[in-house]
Amino acid sequence: MRIFKFDTIDSTNKFLKNLKDREEYDLVIAKTQSAGRGRRGNVWLSEEGAGLFSFMLKEDKEISMEEYAKLPIIIGYSILKAIEKILGLKPLFKWTNDIYLNGKKLSGILVEKDGDNFIIGIGININNVEFFELNDFATSLKKETGNDYGIDEIIFKIIEEFKIQYERFLNREWDIILKEINSVNYLFGKRVKVTGIKENLEGIAGDILESGKLEVYIGTEVREFNIGEIHICK
Ligand code: BTN
Repeated sequence: MRIFKFDTIDSTNKFLKNLKDREEYDLVIAKTQSAGRGRRGNVWLSEEGAGLFSFMLKEDKEISMEEYAKLPIIIGYSILKAIEKILGLKPLFKWTNDIYLNGKKLSGILVEKDGDNFIIGIGININNVEFFELNDFATSLKKETGNDYGIDEIIFKIIEEFKIQYERFLNREWDIILKEINSVNYLFGKRVKVTGIKENLEGIAGDILESGKLEVYIGTEVREFNIGEIHICK
């Protein structure tokens, strides 16, 4: 594991993608990013004070891609646990890739596959307090508590926690992890809109299932949905 630190960089995920001879858990941390990337081609606001980092995970050929679809959930749970352990706060996990605190987004995860490697990018709002047009939707640890935090300390704790949770996952403890995750499921009981399919459906979100999919109650039916199809109704 090596650590690369930058004051500013285009994107920590991109840096790892371009890095030759990558090693497991190589870590890139930046104070700001000029082209921070979010999921589905979105831009990730990368102001100073945020935790902006990426690390490398080698694909284990024993594990199927279906199993690996659970990776963002495991990463999200690790972020949540790390914050809980060092700060005593109680964030929630918003299936599939986000962490919410007091109803607003605190952290997002971008997992990219590059050859035999996964590049795991995490943005977590720590001491940054300005969210411009996202003010109603995003928050930071400082905004919620008034305190400043050690950015590196939080980043290292998240990685330490990920190693613990990933080890549990490899040891076939997914069922137990899932129970824990469902106890902090932000979407549970919320009215959600399902998009990305022919019809536009609305329903009530239920649990995250063994498969990593989310169950949604639509009328008298219970349906299962994949990543990226769910939006919360306002
Ligand atoms: C999302 O919520 O859409 C995912 C956001 C992921 C942002 C992080 S910041 C560090 C890493 N580098 C990037 O360019 N993106 C990820």
